[in-house]
Amino acid sequence: MQSVTPRKFADFSLAAASEAVEEFRAQPGALINALHKLQDTFGYVDEAAMTMLGKLFNLSRAEVHGVTSFYHDFRRTPPGRYTIKVCQAEACQAMGSEALTDSIKEALGCDFHETSKDGLFTLEPVYCLGNCACSPNIMVDEQVFARVSSDTFKKLSASLASNAAEVK
Ligand code: FES
Repeated sequence: MQSVTPRKFADFSLAAASEAVEEFRAQPGALINALHKLQDTFGYVDEAAMTMLGKLFNLSRAEVHGVTSFYHDFRRTPPGRYTIKVCQAEACQAMGSEALTDSIKEALGCDFHETSKDGLFTLEPVYCLGNCACSPNIMVDEQVFARVSSDTFKKLSASLASNAAEVK
């Protein structure tokens, strides 16, 4: 089974966040880029960064909030060590992704847009991973897993958990 190394994000601090987005200071309209930079660095966009971003781009805090909530890609809470996306689009649906989704939710004990209690897995829906011929598909971070069943998911999640225990 392919393995996926768990991601490690930096711990959030306002000072580190300010430093991370400093390169966008002289770029009007670069708010989205700055939000992506924060998410890539810390794994999410912390509430505490909103005012700082507003000052940087001469926007109100509400405007920054509006942009952050409009784009669903921006996470507002720290993610798990892995993000698991389960395809909900047509070809995967036809091959049983609905039942697979239910069993994954049950196995992880969380719903979409939530993180498992052990902090290992964040679960998200996705709409086509471009691998329709081998449905149903899921993605773990950047790695696609094809023809996934409830059983293979259980093995995969156990192997991911054991990787995460080794890579602190
Ligand atoms: S529909 Fe799931 S990969 Fe295309």
